[in-house]
Amino acid sequence: MRGIFITFEGGEGAGKSTQIRRLAAVLESYGLSVTLTREPGGTPLAEAIRGLILTHEAASEDGLTQALLFAAARRDHVLRVIRPALAAGHVVLCDRFADSTRAYQGGKVPDAMLEQVIALGTDGLEPDLTFLLDVNAELGLERARSRFTGVEDTFERSNLAFHREVRRRFHAIAATEPHRILVIDASQDEAYVAESIRLAVRQRIFAAPGAGE
Ligand code: TYD
Repeated sequence: MRGIFITFEGGEGAGKSTQIRRLAAVLESYGLSVTLTREPGGTPLAEAIRGLILTHEAASEDGLTQALLFAAARRDHVLRVIRPALAAGHVVLCDRFADSTRAYQGGKVPDAMLEQVIALGTDGLEPDLTFLLDVNAELGLERARSRFTGVEDTFERSNLAFHREVRRRFHAIAATEPHRILVIDASQDEAYVAESIRLAVRQRIFAAPGAGE
């Protein structure tokens, strides 16, 4: 049995990491094997690339350089972690994936070129389901700053206009793939958001004809 690949996307402060942990706990309580991972990162090489991209000193302003680094990290992650976990029948939950490249690097690289870079990074792997945790940029940045740990990364330092543009891009991506991407209002109460996600996973994945074959 092939596993199921679910990704979580959204801007800063959307609550992705909290919600992904909650879903992992629920799925484990159903007796499923869960692999919980994140991007950029998920393998030693990809975590090293993450460090390069997210520190002020090493970060490049060039969108294509960024996209290539995220794609290199993603390829290592897909080959070493995600594909093997899916082959073992796990539910793989990933905090950010290729849609983050579309939302954050989109507009800085021609679309067709960006899609080529993304395809190399994903090795053609697409999520079965993606949750877009949606909050407006003001609330997201406010939440992200309230859990501030001392060092802002390259993207957190970007201005409000950039975060609004990232949100607009996420919405545009969701509109082109409504069957894969579910938009969740993440300004709602944490438990309410978790329940919406749990129900959607049950309906869309586990109740679907042929699920898990
Ligand atoms: P992270 O600390 O994981 O952010 P968050 O907690 O918001 O998920 O940092 C990842 C940053 O990298 C985030 O600002 C989004 C950005 N990013 C891209 O620009 N492109 C990508 O392909 C990915 C995966 C992340």
